[in-house]
Amino acid sequence: MATKATPASKPLPAFAARIVGWQRGHGRHGLPWQGTRDAYRIWLSEVMLQQTAVATVIPYYARFLARFPDVASLAAAEDDAVMALWSGLGYYARARNLHRAAREVMTRHGGLFPVTAEELVALPGVGRSTAAAIAAFSSGERGAILDANVRRVLARHAGVAGDPASAQVLGRLWEVAEARVPARGSITVYTQGMMDLGADVCLPRKPHCLVCPVNADCVARIENRVDELPARRARRPARRKRIAMLVVVRAGEVLLEKRPASGIWGGLWSLPEADVAEPPRAALAREWGLDALEVEAMEPFEHAFTHFTLEVEPWRMKPGKSTGLAQGKAAIWLPLSDLAGAALPSPVRRLLAKVVSGTK
Ligand code: ADE
Repeated sequence: MATKATPASKPLPAFAARIVGWQRGHGRHGLPWQGTRDAYRIWLSEVMLQQTAVATVIPYYARFLARFPDVASLAAAEDDAVMALWSGLGYYARARNLHRAAREVMTRHGGLFPVTAEELVALPGVGRSTAAAIAAFSSGERGAILDANVRRVLARHAGVAGDPASAQVLGRLWEVAEARVPARGSITVYTQGMMDLGADVCLPRKPHCLVCPVNADCVARIENRVDELPARRARRPARRKRIAMLVVVRAGEVLLEKRPASGIWGGLWSLPEADVAEPPRAALAREWGLDALEVEAMEPFEHAFTHFTLEVEPWRMKPGKSTGLAQGKAAIWLPLSDLAGAALPSPVRRLLAKVVSGTK
């Protein structure tokens, strides 16, 4: 329903002033990364929050900081220790970039975490929006953010049509975002307010327009286009991929293979995979030089990634004679009792939990 703007006699406060006032009264307070100006901690939270919801991030953030309380400790860590603490959060390129960035902070910035957007954006895994958020929260530097939630808020409020992922529309949204940054007053509260509004009020579907602090001049609301904005990207049909996973367990140890650094689950330890067309016993012999004494089908499962769904047929196998691990493979026999601390993808961890409960 179209609503009228406030009467002309009473001009609206500036957009930023309304966001700041609303954040103070109704935004999120007391999150673990608020109330610090430590750029290392803020950077860590922003990277974790890039593709993951607040409630999921909180325990990971606490565990990560307990182990790596500062950038020096993270830079000095082994890859596997970092990946293990990220295991389950997904989008593992973030963890690899995080580790590389920590090393750059040690070598290029003498261990002092940068606090300007210009320096931050040069770090691996830190884009323009993340850099601005870290700079605002750690040093009060003024700059616009434009994560997916804020894109939605601004596309609606300014009535920007078109696919927000296209370069042209994105450019327009950055202009809108820059123009709304408060000239004075708290950039920290404003930035948090934009995030909070996108997360809790200006929802993708059924937004809570009645309680929105900027509803009076929201173009989408006034023109009754809230459901149309932002424009949805044309969906490609979901791709599916089927693979077999070999759950090879011998004397309480499971065979794991390190995934290549790029691609899904990059850098994590996972189960050996095989083509579903090849009998699993043959795949184990050909790829691993292992002869299977027993082969048993386990329950298939699916795992959804952003761009495709993986269909997994797991096979539990007991190896007999071995001719040693195949050459050129990064592989380990991990004791099943050590699964908790290993850098495993979540679905693999769940699958192995079933194996463990079945062997008890
Ligand atoms: N999403 C991205 N950054 C965030 C933050 N600092 N607080 C809450 N949600 C966020």
